[in-house]
Amino acid sequence: MNSKQKWQVGIVGATGMVGQRLILLLKDHPWFQLSLLAASGRSAGKTYREAAGHRWFMDEPIPETVKDMKLYDGEKDIKAIAGQVDFIFCAVEMDKKALQALEEAYAKAECPVLSNNSAHRWTADVPMIIPELNPDHAQVIPQQQQRLGSVHGFIAVKSNCSLQSYLPALWPLHEKFGLTKALACTYQAISGAGKNFHTWPEMVDNINPLIKGEEEKSEQEPLKIWGKVTPQGILPAAGPSLTSQCLRVPVTDGHMAAVFASFEKKPDIDEIKKIWSDFAGLPQQLKLPSAPQQFLYYFEEEDRPQTRLDRDREKGMGVSIGRLRPDSQYDIKFVCLSHNTLRGAAGGNLLLAELLCQQGYIRQNR
Ligand SMILES: NC(=O)c1ccc[n+]([C@@H]2O[C@H](COP(=O)([O-])OP(=O)(O)OC[C@H]3O[C@@H](n4cnc5c(N)ncnc54)[C@H](OP(=O)(O)O)[C@@H]3O)[C@@H](O)[C@H]2O)c1
Repeated sequence: MNSKQKWQVGIVGATGMVGQRLILLLKDHPWFQLSLLAASGRSAGKTYREAAGHRWFMDEPIPETVKDMKLYDGEKDIKAIAGQVDFIFCAVEMDKKALQALEEAYAKAECPVLSNNSAHRWTADVPMIIPELNPDHAQVIPQQQQRLGSVHGFIAVKSNCSLQSYLPALWPLHEKFGLTKALACTYQAISGAGKNFHTWPEMVDNINPLIKGEEEKSEQEPLKIWGKVTPQGILPAAGPSLTSQCLRVPVTDGHMAAVFASFEKKPDIDEIKKIWSDFAGLPQQLKLPSAPQQFLYYFEEEDRPQTRLDRDREKGMGVSIGRLRPDSQYDIKFVCLSHNTLRGAAGGNLLLAELLCQQGYIRQNR
């Protein structure tokens, strides 16, 4: 595919932590050409290097093709941006109401929005998709387009990063054994707050017991993902019942979770391991460019997964699981890990974009 045949893509929020990840993921993407960058009015008009060079968090340098791109104003230049790209990724730190209005303005300007933000996660006709789990929720998009009066434009979101380590592991077990309840304690990296140790030195040698709003998201968002598409939008599932505690720990990237789960039908440990190793979703069947080959990987080594060793498995798009065993209070317990800014943010968003392009929801050269 040459660059003219590729989907032309913009990033709104390009200077932030997720935006930076997206820039790197799009560098050699086989389907997508990064053609436009936007951020706040503070950065607009500057080159990317001027606006973000001093706060570039990634290990790789800023790509040469991006350094001198001029930033647009993500709020003021909506029409100009929508006219130049086939869709945008949106990863912006803003007030919820303003962000909802911003994303709807892009959709109404006929620009599909692939969002990392939480603002629209509970809008009934906005699908919240983990591509391996609930790709069918894209079917709600025409309802949203009818409400917004758009033909091509719509908003699709990814879920919160915390649950992306444990919900994929619970998903096929719920299908097979009927999950009744689960408890998850998450140990979340500081990049999840858009920070590193340089910008958040208080986190060195420290654990912070509060991530505001995270426990509510971790407990409630899975119910929308388990929900059904109805003529009134997505109806969240009534159960299973979930509870969580989310802690900020001193690691750069990677959210770990310690999970306890009980089921209607009592599961066999070896059967669970086989279900995980066999599990593949639509992205694997369609061989989407960012799909991990082995989505759920079980470590037999008793001291794995470890954050530093395993967060980058499958280019940060896999979920790593270990320490599965019976529990005295619940049926089973295990530990799992995913990369929060790859699977949990930019990579998950990119995989969603690939899915929606492949399925015809996002068109080229409208
Ligand atoms: N970090 C993660 O692991 C993670 C995971 C999942 C979801 N998210 C979500 O992704 C979003 C971005 O997170 P982040 O960590 O990348 O944040 P961040 O590093 O603080 O970056 C925020 C971005 O928003 C831009 N921005 C701020 N106000 C704006 C405005 N009025 N108009 C247009 N752009 C504006 C900033 O531009 P300037 O540089 O010009 O200020 C910057 O590009 C948030 O909604 C967050 O909750 C983050």
